[in-house]
Amino acid sequence: MIFLKSESELEILHQANALVHRALQAVREAAEPGVSTADLDKLAEDLIRQGGGTPAFKGYRGYPATLCTSVNDEIVHGIPSRKVRLKAGDLLSVDCGAVVEGYYGDAAISFGVGEVSPVAQRLMQVTRECLEDAVEQVRPGKRLGDIGAAVQQRAEGAGFGVVRDFVGHGVGRSLHEDPQVPNYGKPGTGLVLRPGLVVAIEPMITEGSWRVRVDRDGWTARTEDGKLSAHFEYSVAVTEKGPRVLGRKE
Ligand code: MF3
Ligand code: CO
Repeated sequence: MIFLKSESELEILHQANALVHRALQAVREAAEPGVSTADLDKLAEDLIRQGGGTPAFKGYRGYPATLCTSVNDEIVHGIPSRKVRLKAGDLLSVDCGAVVEGYYGDAAISFGVGEVSPVAQRLMQVTRECLEDAVEQVRPGKRLGDIGAAVQQRAEGAGFGVVRDFVGHGVGRSLHEDPQVPNYGKPGTGLVLRPGLVVAIEPMITEGSWRVRVDRDGWTARTEDGKLSAHFEYSVAVTEKGPRVLGRKE
């Protein structure tokens, strides 16, 4: 079932996502060599609570933390830990969610710790471009397949892989609502986008194979070939005027 959102609901979703973006920026600034991913998780949780929200992922299907912190070959759902200390050269993907007044914000960024390799930089740049291209498709009359195709074309055109095992999603009063939003597809196919639809678009792009292996912790998803992966996510509303990236200053 798809829930279209009113203007006042979009405003609350904007607040929830603004809080998430603030937490992600703080995490990015704090992410220096020697800092643990558990330290980053505490920073994000404190900021979200101070901002009047609650962490969205903590307790979701038993997930234990505020952030997902996925390092290098980890794609998504890396669990923050005091044992994981960042090193210069790491590619870190951080996913964060917050609930404000019953509405869910959900966003993710990837960045380098200290100096990173040229391929890591290119992978992050292309993944950001995948998300930007996808956002451009978020307009009335466009279709879900246009979003997936935009991501796939940009990623594969750069020689990178598109993860299939995880997809984006509708978002609102639940973290995951219909529809699913794959990062692959055919233009002009699938659900027609209408004003009030809000989707979390989250390309997960790999340096090599897109095949995934999940660790014995039941969460951490990493590339099968051990090569790098990057992840960016925005929650985006369809409006008459085009895409509205929630939480971003207009
Ligand atoms: N952005 C991811 C998602 O929407 C994060 C979920 S982590 C979980 O699926 F722990 F909440 F599952
Ligand atoms: Co998401």
